[in-house]
Amino acid sequence: MGLIQAGLLSLGAAVAQASLQIVPGATWTATNTGNHIQAHGNGITKVGSTYYMIGEDKTNGSAFQNINCYSSDNLVEWTYVGALLSQTASGDLGPSRVVERPKVIYNEANEQYVLYMHIDDSSYKEAKVGVATSDSVCGDYTYLGSWQPLGFQSRDLGLFQDDDGAAYLLTEDRENGLRIDALTDDYLNVTEAVYLWDISIEAPSILKKGDYYFMFGSYLTGWDPNDNVYSYATSLSGPWSNWATFATVGSKTYTSQTTYLLPFGDGAIYMGDRWVSTNLMRSTYVWLPLTISGTSITMPDRVNWVPNVSAGTWSAGPSESQPEAESAALSSGAATISCSGCSGAESVGNIGGSMDGEVTFSGLSSSAATRSTVRIKYENGDTAQRHANVIVNGVSQVVAFLPTANGQTPGSSTLHCDLLAGTGNTITIAGLGDGTYGPDVDRIMVPNT
Ligand SMILES: *[C@@H]1O[C@H](CO)[C@@H](O)[C@H](O)[C@H]1NC(C)=O
Ligand SMILES: *[C@@H]1O[C@H](CO)[C@@H](O)[C@H](O)[C@H]1NC(C)=O
Ligand SMILES: *[C@@H]1O[C@H](CO)[C@@H](O)[C@H](O)[C@H]1NC(C)=O
Repeated sequence: MGLIQAGLLSLGAAVAQASLQIVPGATWTATNTGNHIQAHGNGITKVGSTYYMIGEDKTNGSAFQNINCYSSDNLVEWTYVGALLSQTASGDLGPSRVVERPKVIYNEANEQYVLYMHIDDSSYKEAKVGVATSDSVCGDYTYLGSWQPLGFQSRDLGLFQDDDGAAYLLTEDRENGLRIDALTDDYLNVTEAVYLWDISIEAPSILKKGDYYFMFGSYLTGWDPNDNVYSYATSLSGPWSNWATFATVGSKTYTSQTTYLLPFGDGAIYMGDRWVSTNLMRSTYVWLPLTISGTSITMPDRVNWVPNVSAGTWSAGPSESQPEAESAALSSGAATISCSGCSGAESVGNIGGSMDGEVTFSGLSSSAATRSTVRIKYENGDTAQRHANVIVNGVSQVVAFLPTANGQTPGSSTLHCDLLAGTGNTITIAGLGDGTYGPDVDRIMVPNT
């Protein structure tokens, strides 16, 4: 009886299995804004089974605008919830200020969420931490003020909360090195230095796995990426190991900089920023699973991968069909154009615009009825996002398309949608109906298993 039930249950689960993908470096459209997620330099705070992504709004460049909060139950589909802090008329959060790398942890005793962030002027001379608190993870925060922890400069920062509830500030002190400072019981101040590395490492984040603490960080190369490194120890006060790389050497951490390490099942997820310094709003998120074996950490690059948050496992991206836009049905002025970097050296332009052009892919096959991620390969030569109304089996949603680098290499934008079992799936990429142009579409990549 027990066996039969288990069999039935797993059959049910297999049908419901999703293939929602994390696609590093792609445009990630929030479910309710129609725009690329603005939560750069972020950290993740998990409450119950919900993940909150808290990071910097770079919509209008580097100066402080908002600290934004998005929520997700699956790490793939993110909904904008609100701003924790927004620009004020003057002061630390005023115009032309630097407010970076927000991180939030929960103080159990005070039932309070505590937010730390780097506070600075536009020339990065103040070098302070700022602290704010709230009753709710994604609610309004009360800003308490800023200072230099233990009197030292502090720029990039991270927070680490240990299993015993003790919490630590990770802080880059340009004059002396990288520090771990202990926080007070209420987490609102630092009490003492726990460790100092006499080395220039920023963007710190600590991951604890088994008996080991792993400190991750990057070298100091401004907005440009470098080969990020990690060090490990069995105690936060050391001794810490030599620094070692974890991504392919020379890849500059697949063109990204560490921002957060999220424990995930038996392993962890690396979260990094692929900064675009000339247009910061189009910076993307590079999230990849780590392989941890004792004290050895490696991280191969992946085009896409599928996390399963309830199981704490992940799998490689599914097999896909890759229909070309130029072979799909074009209507209302949509036209094939040449595109040297595109597959087949062609794409489809005039999506949207004055004639409301659209491209329709039909007869798309999926072996299961499942929520899936389709990757749209596209080009957008503007400096602003373009948008499309994308209709999947009759259900429409707005998808954003960040500017592409050089007009040569197509970008990827992720589309999360319900596919039907069989060969009857249809996807139409259309304009918004307001005269604006959508992206030039190269091809789409549709999971078929
Ligand atoms: C996650 O894994 C569990 C256990 O293998 C499985 O039952 C479930 O269907 C999976 N969930 C998704 C969304 O794939
Ligand atoms: C960006 O700038 C525009 C134009 O000044 C303004 O309307 C908008 O609110 C700003 N966005 C953010 C997030 O600050
Ligand atoms: C933090 O503690 C130090 C040393 O006790 C004190 O000088 C400083 O004022 C405190 N800062 C805040 C913001 O409470």
